[in-house]
Amino acid sequence: MHLGLISAMEQEQTGLLALLQSPRRETCGMREYVTGMLGGTRCTCVLSRWGKVAAAATATMLIERFGVTHILFTGVAGAASRGVAVGDIVIASSLVQHDMDASPFFPRFEIPLLGVAQFAADATLSERLARAAQRFVEQDAPTLLSADERSAFSMREARVHHGIIASGDQFIGSQARLDMLREQLPGLLAVEMEGAAVAQVCHEFGLPFGVVRTISDDANEHAPVDFMRFVERVASRYTLGIVTRFCMPG
Ligand code: ADE
Repeated sequence: MHLGLISAMEQEQTGLLALLQSPRRETCGMREYVTGMLGGTRCTCVLSRWGKVAAAATATMLIERFGVTHILFTGVAGAASRGVAVGDIVIASSLVQHDMDASPFFPRFEIPLLGVAQFAADATLSERLARAAQRFVEQDAPTLLSADERSAFSMREARVHHGIIASGDQFIGSQARLDMLREQLPGLLAVEMEGAAVAQVCHEFGLPFGVVRTISDDANEHAPVDFMRFVERVASRYTLGIVTRFCMPG
């Protein structure tokens, strides 16, 4: 396995590069790709920046230029279901581009001329991610944050969920907008801005992929403040914990 590891922001991948053995750096298309070994897994790590185009370009580069065989996207997301709370982890079962609407020519959410609306994540990768996330939640998360940090984020014991993630070129910070999405996409667990773009690229290239997101906010009017605080103080520790458990199981 040669794993492509994408995050949108530096804070979502902090600490990971320091763990890469024999790192080799290469810059192309305004991004730095760092290849090295993590445990027994060959990894290429890169920051995509925000949004679907950035994520799609990054995934394409990973596949075509770096020859990755699998892709994992890790980062944060807004909660889109009542059972999902800040600090929980959501593993995508499938992903949809919530801002795709070429109706009346194609059904809502369907990618024109591709005939797909929801891209299924790879089952094997997602199961391995779920095991890594569950072990992280049980063994690492309880001691990772102080009681003060937990109460600052109103965090309860973290849970791992498996379900639909929706991506779009829009930060969701409105309860009304979120309610609309939830109505249109039954089973929706989380919203973010990149996963479904990576999913489409992987679908087109026939590459297995997985998406794992830590919930940073409730995608409502408080989201911009909650998101920034979470990203600055917590996000990197979650990514690091889950990815190292994924690459170094046991
Ligand atoms: N990533 C984290 N929180 C988000 C939100 N509320 N909307 C879109 N992407 C996000």
